[in-house]
Amino acid sequence: MTVRLDLGHPLAAVHAGLARILREKLQSTVKSLEASPPGFLEILDEGDSVAERCREEAARLQKFETVVVLGIGGSALGARTVRDALAPEFAARLVVIDNIDPVTIVRTRDSLDPKSTAFFVVSKSGSTAETAAQLILFRTWLLEAGCNPAEHITLITDPKNGPLRALATRDGYSTLEIPPRVGGRFSVLTPVGLLPAAVLGIDPAELLAGARAMWHAVRDQEDHPLLDWVAGHAIRAEHAGQQIQVLMSYSDRLSTLGDWFAQLWGESLGKKLDRAGKVVHRGSTPLAAVGATDQHSLVQLFAEGPADKQFLILGLDGARAPLTPLGAEAAELSADFAYLEGHSIDELFEAERIGTIQALRAAGRPVARLQLEKLDAATLGALFVFFELATVLAADLLDVDPYDQPGVEAGKIIAFARMGRAGYEEKVRELLGEVAEETPGAPLF
Ligand code: PA5
Repeated sequence: MTVRLDLGHPLAAVHAGLARILREKLQSTVKSLEASPPGFLEILDEGDSVAERCREEAARLQKFETVVVLGIGGSALGARTVRDALAPEFAARLVVIDNIDPVTIVRTRDSLDPKSTAFFVVSKSGSTAETAAQLILFRTWLLEAGCNPAEHITLITDPKNGPLRALATRDGYSTLEIPPRVGGRFSVLTPVGLLPAAVLGIDPAELLAGARAMWHAVRDQEDHPLLDWVAGHAIRAEHAGQQIQVLMSYSDRLSTLGDWFAQLWGESLGKKLDRAGKVVHRGSTPLAAVGATDQHSLVQLFAEGPADKQFLILGLDGARAPLTPLGAEAAELSADFAYLEGHSIDELFEAERIGTIQALRAAGRPVARLQLEKLDAATLGALFVFFELATVLAADLLDVDPYDQPGVEAGKIIAFARMGRAGYEEKVRELLGEVAEETPGAPLF
């Protein structure tokens, strides 16, 4: 497994001193992560027994044709990312419902056979309204079909707290644990991502081994390029107004990693208060893109629009073997296509990736490159930790807490009040002064 990071153009000379200072600050942050590891790093060293437990549970569920993941946010994105990156051919075996759009829910339910469907209900807090609603709906569906929910449902939640844990104890559901110190968007390397991996036939221990290798490299190598990337990001954001971080993947299999990254980066860095409680409204906006598709969509904006973006382009080394030749008849179809004759689609994909990088750089846009030798479980594990560390280090430079998300509470409180949850009307009044009614808006035609 090799993953390479090319930082692209160096920072302007005027920022060299600042880059050095920030790198030293990040080096000392890495030391403190080593001395007192946050939950998402702590689990790497304890993870192999968890991998074993995930393999066991996956074996128990072998008899089910389909496994449906019920969850939202960090409790669903990890499963989707693992499936799409490592086993995209099994999208029908592992279905991830990470929303409560009734149309999707009903369409999915109607496509399933209750007798051959298992469910992972994933919620760290155990109390998320969307996940509770999904659970209630599918449990009722199982009961109506004469199935015993405890045979079909596995709960993935906190070891002690929350309504899902209480339910598991009361009704005897099979459970796996999300360690208390690991928050939702940092939970992909717990059973949240590892159990779906095992169900897809991917060894969770390999994901963990890759993750550990990345963490140990950052920990042990003082001048690790990740630190320069984070320092460069902070300097460009602060001094060049480049507060949008684009992650553009030249691989359909990695497009969901872009969504996972967007949640991690956006929810961790976008904060009203700094760590001392001062109002600062800081953050960096993540934007996920996919090449070559977005060369016909967003790249126009990237190349010529406001210079408010930084780019990280993710690519897979060289061509796949065997190549997929285009066939010999290009020139016969049209003289305009003659240049494609004798080439493979792999070569065109690679040429477009390089073309985008060089064109953006020529337009003066800051482009770093993350290049994977291959995409396997170990590499994906390493990428998860790369982005988790980058996020925590970026939060350190922004002086914000990466692990909380107070900004999502107000919307939840209003929704609870609208659903009649006791005590929430008063909370809305405290928040808004009154329970606001939605206006219909002006007719457009
Ligand atoms: O990162 C987070 O903490 C959130 O995005 C959560 O993952 C999301 O809100 C779901 O929470 P829970 O796992 O408690 O149901």
